[in-house]
Amino acid sequence: MTGNTQEGADARQPLPFMERTPLIAGNWKMNLDHLQAIALVQKLAWGLSDVRHDFSAAEVAVFPPFTDLRSVQTLLAADKLSLTLGAQDVSPHEAGAYTGDISAAMLAKLDVSYVLVGHSERRQGHGESDETVGLKARAAHASGMVPMICVGETAADLEEHGAAAIPVAQLTTALAQLPEDAEFVVAYEPVWAIGSGQAATPEQAEDVARALREHLRDLRGDDRAARTRILYGGSVASQNIAGFMRQPNVDGALVGGASLKVDEFTRIIQFQKHVTAG
Ligand code: PGA
Repeated sequence: MTGNTQEGADARQPLPFMERTPLIAGNWKMNLDHLQAIALVQKLAWGLSDVRHDFSAAEVAVFPPFTDLRSVQTLLAADKLSLTLGAQDVSPHEAGAYTGDISAAMLAKLDVSYVLVGHSERRQGHGESDETVGLKARAAHASGMVPMICVGETAADLEEHGAAAIPVAQLTTALAQLPEDAEFVVAYEPVWAIGSGQAATPEQAEDVARALREHLRDLRGDDRAARTRILYGGSVASQNIAGFMRQPNVDGALVGGASLKVDEFTRIIQFQKHVTAG
């Protein structure tokens, strides 16, 4: 974060206090077929009922591949499980000649609540621009779902611009496509931390989360800035979750690899235990 941003932020009145329900989201990426998905969700639900997880204290969401969504939706509904369903991507288009794409309306029909947009693996592997990310967020919102807008700097960006500049710019361009009143979640995921086993420090995550929230005040006003959940993602594990959750501007985690291991993901979801213990 630049000195200027920080000085500007400090000169302002603090944001009004707003209780933000923590969100722990599991991004399965391209893993697990629909049978494996059912097995994982069942184990996760048993694990959480064992520990009597308080879902009003922390929301838990899973983001399976498209082909698993119907099976997971059916399981969540049949067993009345308090897990929220997310999708990993969405087409910016409504319908039509877009072979291989999945529309927001199709996802909404499957009771999908959240849609990841702009994950760095989509930006890098599929050439998605900040504007495309914004259009996808808009499509998700238009179908009644909440976009989870992923932003983050590469190692080279970090060296050249510091940590916050690129995520702030990515968020600004994406939000330009989203109606003023739209709800969204921000996932700050430094690209160098994803799947590397080298997470950011809690202080690094907090610095960028705070810069993003301050910027949201300019873009959307104090109320939306105070309400919006900002997650950290990138090599989150049960060993480091407490440090992130202690930060005032970090409201949860987007968990990749560790969300595929039920015991580990359950320990991450139980972060309150470690937060109060630590
Ligand atoms: P990771 O992935 O937890 O495996 O680093 C995070 C993500 O890509 O969302």
